[in-house]
Amino acid sequence: MYQDRIAERFRHKIISAEQAANLVKDGMVVGASGFTKAGDAKATLKAMAARAKADPFTINLMTGASLGHNLDGLFAEAGMISRRMPFQSDATLRKKINNGEVMFTDLHLGETAELLAYGFLPPVDIAIIEVAAIYDDGSVLPTTSIGNNLTYARHAKQIILEVNTTIPLEIRGFHDIFATGISPQRQIIPVTEPSTRIGTETMPIDADKVIGVVISDIKDSPVELSAVDEKTLAISDHLMDFFNQEVKRGRLTPNLPPLQTGIGNIANAVFSGFKRGNFENLKMYSEVLQDSTFELIDSGKMKFASACSFAVTSECYENFFANLDRYRGKIMLRPEKISNSPEVIRRLGVIAINTAIEFDLYGNVNSTHIGGNKMMNGIGGSGDFARNSYLSIFVTQSASKNDSISHVVPMVTHVDSNEHDVDILVTDQGLADLRGLAPRERALRVIENCCHPEYRDQLKAYYKEALVRGGHTPHIIEKAFSWHQNFNERGTMKF
Ligand code: COA
Repeated sequence: MYQDRIAERFRHKIISAEQAANLVKDGMVVGASGFTKAGDAKATLKAMAARAKADPFTINLMTGASLGHNLDGLFAEAGMISRRMPFQSDATLRKKINNGEVMFTDLHLGETAELLAYGFLPPVDIAIIEVAAIYDDGSVLPTTSIGNNLTYARHAKQIILEVNTTIPLEIRGFHDIFATGISPQRQIIPVTEPSTRIGTETMPIDADKVIGVVISDIKDSPVELSAVDEKTLAISDHLMDFFNQEVKRGRLTPNLPPLQTGIGNIANAVFSGFKRGNFENLKMYSEVLQDSTFELIDSGKMKFASACSFAVTSECYENFFANLDRYRGKIMLRPEKISNSPEVIRRLGVIAINTAIEFDLYGNVNSTHIGGNKMMNGIGGSGDFARNSYLSIFVTQSASKNDSISHVVPMVTHVDSNEHDVDILVTDQGLADLRGLAPRERALRVIENCCHPEYRDQLKAYYKEALVRGGHTPHIIEKAFSWHQNFNERGTMKF
């Protein structure tokens, strides 16, 4: 089964997942593949979680982003993680992070590899990387995510490769591997179009560092998405109207610049709006490709999509592998340092659409924290794109949980993307174009266009009182978080 996937000179290194798990020692820094449930080294990581239950040990774990197969949850239950970076989205791990048992370093995904290369992060002891094949020259064929694999493999002292036999070898050609190096010798990233190939189809590996090869036949675990609902449909309609107007004004071309979309239900549903819109020949320069991307390619509306990972449902996953030739030349996966590169995002003039947990009167966005102190998932790549895009858009519902939560608040309890980076805010109520506006002008637009009607008077009252205090960015400091306080005490932000 694996003869065509593992070059002969690596075959004597084949070991079981359990043997591989035993190679990871207490206290090690592990750099593992895996990005939003795609391309994780599932067999080895599962065996590590099982081992930790019987024989407790802890590691510092770095990945591309979140892991599939409930792995972060299994690790957290086994008490195996002392430090985690740069992203996670698991409920059990989240609890441990929020009660201080796990140190979580929430990083810009586009910067993680660089921080490691500069020596600002603990050096990687062992890299554990899923691949589809290992070739004689020591190069490997990546699978459904690239994430930080190149950097982890380069910097690790030892490498375990996990060969996934369920990934067709015909996936070759869907990847573009390029190393920039670090400053001051850092290279220009010559991507001038999402489809520009700048690197190689396979990833170089130092064969001498490979201490084990594991064989696995476990598929990626699927992303579960909720259906498009009234609110997400409204958000997407507001966005489509806005893009149409911008085309009429000559500020956008009918093909639109390359698009980026964030993760999650809202982002996927909103992005599906392009299926109904008038825009053709769309392109993506993004971090993840969700189901909506494949639907747009299938409908002929999208020409090309570049990212560093898939984040798809099982139907979408099966469809991709059953129809590789249909997608060949239309999809490319790159290291997250390239997919999220400020240089490329700025050059291409990307339109970035990310999801906020909440935003405030002046356009500051909280993407990560609930109630000011509890971590949700992490900033992911939203900051990489928000800062550098041609248009930085954040979307969220105006209110949720029976309208007990307003997602438009006087002051965000945590800032991930600040007012200087955010151009457009959209809720189911409408869209606020904040470009070129001063704080006092921004506040009026946010109240009128984005706030839920149940909260509009309350927000107006706050702003009116804040104006009496004056200032460039009017606030009533002692009341700025009163909505959140009310929610904590009475279960609603409504007064
Ligand atoms: N107060 C309390 N809870 C809130 C909240 C708020 N203001 N806003 C969101 N939540 C909760 C929701 O209630 C939901 O919890 P539940 O599952 O228990 O109901 C959860 O957060 C997810 O929110 P949901 O409305 O389903 O949106 P989503 O799945 O689209 O996720 C983010 C939204 C912001 C959490 C998610 O997009 C994220 O983690 N973003 C940061 C990273 C990022 O942007 N990456 C993309 C870069 S390429």
